Amino acid sequence: MKPFAQKMNELTPEMVELVDRVIDAHDGDATQLVGILLDLEAAVERHYIPEPAAYYLAERLEIHPTQVYDVITFYSALHDKPRAKYTLQVCDSAPCRVKDSDALCETLKRLLNLEIGEVTYDGRFSIEKVPCFGACDVSPAVRVNGVVYGHLDSEERIIDMLQQLD
Ligand code: FES
Repeated sequence: MKPFAQKMNELTPEMVELVDRVIDAHDGDATQLVGILLDLEAAVERHYIPEPAAYYLAERLEIHPTQVYDVITFYSALHDKPRAKYTLQVCDSAPCRVKDSDALCETLKRLLNLEIGEVTYDGRFSIEKVPCFGACDVSPAVRVNGVVYGHLDSEERIIDMLQQLD
């Protein structure tokens, strides 16, 4: 582990501003730590909690950094390592499987030359199987950074969806 001072040296003004904004949106309430971390992760481009940000956040909330890391470790939705810019979440629940979400997943893997859990060399894409995210009426569907793309029942539509991601 790097010394505390070194972690704080790696903190950019942009990251300070972002952490401050997220904490202020939660009224600086440390009991909302999970929500604060989820909002911070969503706002960071690679969708993770950078270490200097975790330490600064702990300082702002007047809690020990281990409390922050306990929460990050406990919740599977939180990450302490950079993720893909676009994590393509494919629903793996029964109603979508009936609508052939498996075929959608296989097509994504083939088009991106990627296995589940891997990240493309440029850090842009990864594929993840997740439980129902409430898009059953437009399945087979993919959720990307909170946005749902539905009716992905042909390769043409899947390619079109990928091209919408810059
Ligand atoms: Fe797949 Fe609901 S069952 S989105």
